[in-house]
Amino acid sequence: MKTLHIDLGSRSYDIHIVPGLLDRVGEEIRKVCPKAKRIAIITDTNVEPLYGARVENSLEHAGFDTGLFAGPAGEGAKCATHLAALWEAMMHYGLTRTDAVVALGGGVVGDLAGFAAATILRGVDFIQIPTTLLAQVDSSVGGKVAIDLAAGKNLAGCFWQPKVVLMDPETLNTLDDKTFSDGMAEVIKYGCIADREFFAFLCAHPSRGEIMENIEHVLYTCCDIKRSVVEEDERDTGRRMLLNFGHTLGHAYERSGNYETWTHGQAVAAGMCAAVQLGLDLGVTERGEELRVLTGLLEAFGLPTHIDCGWEDIVKAVGLDKKGEGEDITMILLREIGLAFPKKMSKDGVLQNLKALYRR
Ligand code: GLY
Repeated sequence: MKTLHIDLGSRSYDIHIVPGLLDRVGEEIRKVCPKAKRIAIITDTNVEPLYGARVENSLEHAGFDTGLFAGPAGEGAKCATHLAALWEAMMHYGLTRTDAVVALGGGVVGDLAGFAAATILRGVDFIQIPTTLLAQVDSSVGGKVAIDLAAGKNLAGCFWQPKVVLMDPETLNTLDDKTFSDGMAEVIKYGCIADREFFAFLCAHPSRGEIMENIEHVLYTCCDIKRSVVEEDERDTGRRMLLNFGHTLGHAYERSGNYETWTHGQAVAAGMCAAVQLGLDLGVTERGEELRVLTGLLEAFGLPTHIDCGWEDIVKAVGLDKKGEGEDITMILLREIGLAFPKKMSKDGVLQNLKALYRR
């Protein structure tokens, strides 16, 4: 059992990482929401049959009334139409300002439920129960919540910190390999940007089985790195940008496949390799074994190290298609494995370098 405290003043909260915690979420939520009577559990139709009843039982045992709202699984659920339906359903259920919303599921559920919690009745308490690796190491921590618009992903959202994050690593056992690997891309990212020793640990445990044998250590280490970044830069105006390592090109790859061909983690994996190559070409990344070691580790988890996409998707990701948005972009590059830094570059300069990389 491991606990981390995120220190954000009045918005501080704990992350509990405990095998079997799903059966005790009621008592943990009672500690942080002492006045709540009703809990709206927002989940999806994949997660509900697996864990819905256990979470409801635990909450009811702790004296809460529960309403369970299971929407469709997948990124498509993170839209204004579903959000509006949720608002109406929660009002129909009788949620009041002293009640709370629980997100039970992966990143899509967490983002949608968090934005619903932030906006219903001008904001109610919110609890994250992440059930995927990606949600446990990234999206459930730090308070970013959003829905997608036709114009792009996560474009309507806000910061709404949870009251507590309850992680049961046993929920990872029901993930298929592709979804597990999706989360591993973000796990590997933490090693790249902030912890060379952790990266070496991952290289020494290059399989799902070995990661699961050490899962509490893995979750704790990733969340601890995210903790230090979020505590310093909650609103994403400085250091938090380091978490975007691999994401600029990753967004281009995701968009090129219409958000269906490539998972977020697959796109980030290839984006990290492109960012290391860019750093090498610019002479700012240590000319060592960085790229070879990174690609080897990603491949061990079945993640792509290169994705072909249309040049126009790269231009869009760099933002050169948007007039009047400034000439510069901050790229996250590595000095070496374990040490990321932001590099402000002209968008034209980035594109010229990427063109060379792209033609290889
Ligand atoms: N997923 C990046 C962040 O939370 O800032």
